[in-house]
Order: sequence, then C-alpha cells, then structure tokens
Amino acid sequence: MAQPEQQQLQKQQVAEAALGWVRQEIILGVGSGSTVNCFIEALAASRIRIEAAVSSSDASTALLESHGIEVRDLNHTGTLDIYIDGADEFDVHRRLIKGGGGALTREKIVAAASRKFICIVDESKKVGVLGSFPLPIEVIPMARSYVARQLVALGGQPELRQDFVTDNGNVIIDVYNMDLVDPVAMEMKINNLAGVVTCGLFAVRPADVVLMATSSGVKEFT
Ligand code: A5P
Repeated sequence: MAQPEQQQLQKQQVAEAALGWVRQEIILGVGSGSTVNCFIEALAASRIRIEAAVSSSDASTALLESHGIEVRDLNHTGTLDIYIDGADEFDVHRRLIKGGGGALTREKIVAAASRKFICIVDESKKVGVLGSFPLPIEVIPMARSYVARQLVALGGQPELRQDFVTDNGNVIIDVYNMDLVDPVAMEMKINNLAGVVTCGLFAVRPADVVLMATSSGVKEFT
C-alpha cells in the first residue's frame, strides 16, 4: 500500500487526469473529500473555465467559491453531463463505499442527476469485496436506535459517529463487518429502513468510470 506522501501524490495525479473529462463552459458536478479537493485545486490552476459547479457538500462549496467558481443549486441546472467524486472503497464492477466524510446523501443525489460519474481514487481504495471500510449510513436523528437495531439484525455492528452532524442536520451510523458480497441487495435493504436517508453503498448506481492512480500511472476501469 502507498505511504501517506505517495498517496497524496496519487491523489494529485488522479485529480489532474480527471481534468481530461472536463470541457469548457460545462456545469460540472463536484463531490467531496481530500481527492476532490486536489481536483478543485487542479481545476482552478488549469485553463479550463467551467460555467458553474453543483457541489455535494458545504466544504466543497467553500473551496470552489474561494477559487471564484460559481456554485449552483441542482434544482436550477437540470441533468449534469459529468460528476467527479472520490470514494472510500471500490471494486472492479465500479461499485463504491462512500461517506467517510459524511457527504454521502448529496453525493448520491448529484451522482443520480449526472449522465457520467467519474470516480477518482488512489490505489489504496481498490478491494476485492466491499466492506473493510465501515459502511456510513445517514439517519434521521430520532430513528438512530431503531435503525441500529435493524442493522444488527442484518449482521452488522453499528457505531454512531461521535460529534458529527451532516450538512442535512442528520447523524451518521458507521457499520462494521457487514456482509457486502451482494452490495446491490444490501443497498436496497438498508435504504428501505424507516429513518434511513441513504447508505454509502453506490452499487445500484455505480460509477461509470473509475480513474485509479498507481505508481505506474493512472488506470481506467470502465
Ligand atoms: C465524502 O463523504 C466521501 O464520500 C468521499 O468521497 C470519500 O470519503 C473519499 O474521500 P477521500 O478522497 O478524502 O479519500
């Protein structure tokens, strides 16, 4: 596995590669996290001038605006051509776990509203089977105990993320040791629980392309 400095270099490398998907004057979907932060910096330093961005978190909005990039409400843009975001884990079928930063719900909305979801990762994010990374779930606060009991019944070990409130005013439950051999079925089961806003599995709507930085260049999974 890459050391932290190598991992940071890979984030920058894959952020640069993602610029190849961005055209002048488009309205671009922009996700959240440290890899996306590298992408926003790369975009700002490039010659590409997008018309505006739709952002998946308050943190990304602040960074975009600090570079003079206008951020628009998704309700006013219609379908987006391209969404660029990171992931906490991905498999060869481009199914993802996201939400380490807690922005999973807005990320899922912007991904759903985009024609192409380009996921940018360093090689530490690739797994055979999803689930080593605890699965984040955004939950309406009054439902957290109920949802936690249901997650135990589904075979997981839920832990409330401490001192954390999402941009939508909800809590995050991180679930350890969940069997995610069938991530599509599990995503639908969890999303069906009353009180769950959404879970961090992106399997029903996976990424369309994963760009993964490695020590020997950027690999593309399509
Ligand atoms: C934010 O909620 C997440 O879904 C991020 O996309 C994910 O955690 C990847 O973040 P890093 O790029 O910081 O690893």
